[in-house]
Amino acid sequence: MKLYDFPKSYQLFEEAQKYLPNGIYGPRTPTFLTFGSYPAFIKRGLGCRIWDVDGNEFIDYMCSFGTNLLGLKHPKVDAAAKKQWENADCFTLPSDLWLPLAKTIVETIDGLDWCVFGKNGSDVTSYAITLARVYTGKQDILLAKGSYHGSHFWCQPHGQGVPEEWKTHIHYFDYNDVEDFKRVWAEHRGQVAGVMLTPHRHDAMRDQELPAPAFVDAVNALAKQDGFLVIIDDIRCGFRLDLAGSAKHYGWKADIQCFGKAMANGYAISVAGARRELMEAAKTIFFTGTHFFSGVPFAAALACIDEIHSSGAIEQIRKMGTLLMQGLEQEARAHDIQVSVTGPPAMPYMTFADDPLFETNRFFCGQAARRGIFLHPHHNWFVCAAMQESDIQKTLEVASECFKLTREKLGG
Ligand SMILES: Cc1ncc(COP(=O)(O)O)c(C=O)c1O
Repeated sequence: MKLYDFPKSYQLFEEAQKYLPNGIYGPRTPTFLTFGSYPAFIKRGLGCRIWDVDGNEFIDYMCSFGTNLLGLKHPKVDAAAKKQWENADCFTLPSDLWLPLAKTIVETIDGLDWCVFGKNGSDVTSYAITLARVYTGKQDILLAKGSYHGSHFWCQPHGQGVPEEWKTHIHYFDYNDVEDFKRVWAEHRGQVAGVMLTPHRHDAMRDQELPAPAFVDAVNALAKQDGFLVIIDDIRCGFRLDLAGSAKHYGWKADIQCFGKAMANGYAISVAGARRELMEAAKTIFFTGTHFFSGVPFAAALACIDEIHSSGAIEQIRKMGTLLMQGLEQEARAHDIQVSVTGPPAMPYMTFADDPLFETNRFFCGQAARRGIFLHPHHNWFVCAAMQESDIQKTLEVASECFKLTREKLGG
């Protein structure tokens, strides 16, 4: 097999350094991958496949960092979006899809009575902590160490240029550790407005962890007893595990839930919703953005949710993800390599034993990328409903070759 190379990508990346900080900022940079083994720019996509600017084709297990759930260029979602384009997108007032989508969200997600719309996940996670503060009249927010909730000042992991004061009321505990959670709560007793949690632990650069039932119960019970709110950040898992929300899937008694990424199969929209009791507090919050109201993503979200529901997409994703996870474990064993394949099948991730700096992972994923399989060495992957058994089969053939090379590199 001829290995991919990326002359145009890296020439453009080089040139981009002149015009944009670091050429590409944030986690989409090829320096966060295996530099030289991945493209820098993508030209087009279809289903579960993407093509880079050099014409290389990939099966994409990053699914646009989770937005692609049904497949890129999904005909029903794109047709609905196009229909709205014909009426225009961004108006002085919300479009007539504002109310239908709010109703659909409330009817679809378990435990929601109302909602607000934003553009990015960070918009609605920030909204959610504001709502918890207004509702409870308290300031402190508890977060799990290492969890990602967005790029806004209060939660961004790289705090350059962010005054310490932005994080004054944010306190951290270890995910799945009941004692640590209770310790942090006790230290701030009487001032806790809410705890924000991802449905399961999917932090970058570590194995994923499902929430321990005892941890879920402890958080639910303490929140009820003390009166602070449980906020579930379902931006990354949302619509992949259960159409009714990942809080329901794992048993969180969520007061506020946040979604984004997959809800419109890639069109820019996010949503936070809550129980009825929080509505009065919500009426006092200033929440807006020029593009929050554009109609096309609302049309796409309505079509996307309808299609997830009618097509059995979640079941297809679960099946394909299970095949992938089992196949990877089998191939690794066949090459005498110890890996840890974790997470729900809809969003698996793999790490290597004795690989604290992720060098083996970068080698393996880099080799896979040069053979047309786009995995990420540091971040969980995603499965989309456009993936078929033949795609998983092809992925496992490439994985087998990459495990062989990894074995040779590791020696033994
Ligand atoms: C769990 C979680 N919360 C919040 C966010 C922030 O979403 P966005 O990048 O759309 O602002 C992300 C993005 O990756 C996420 O994974």
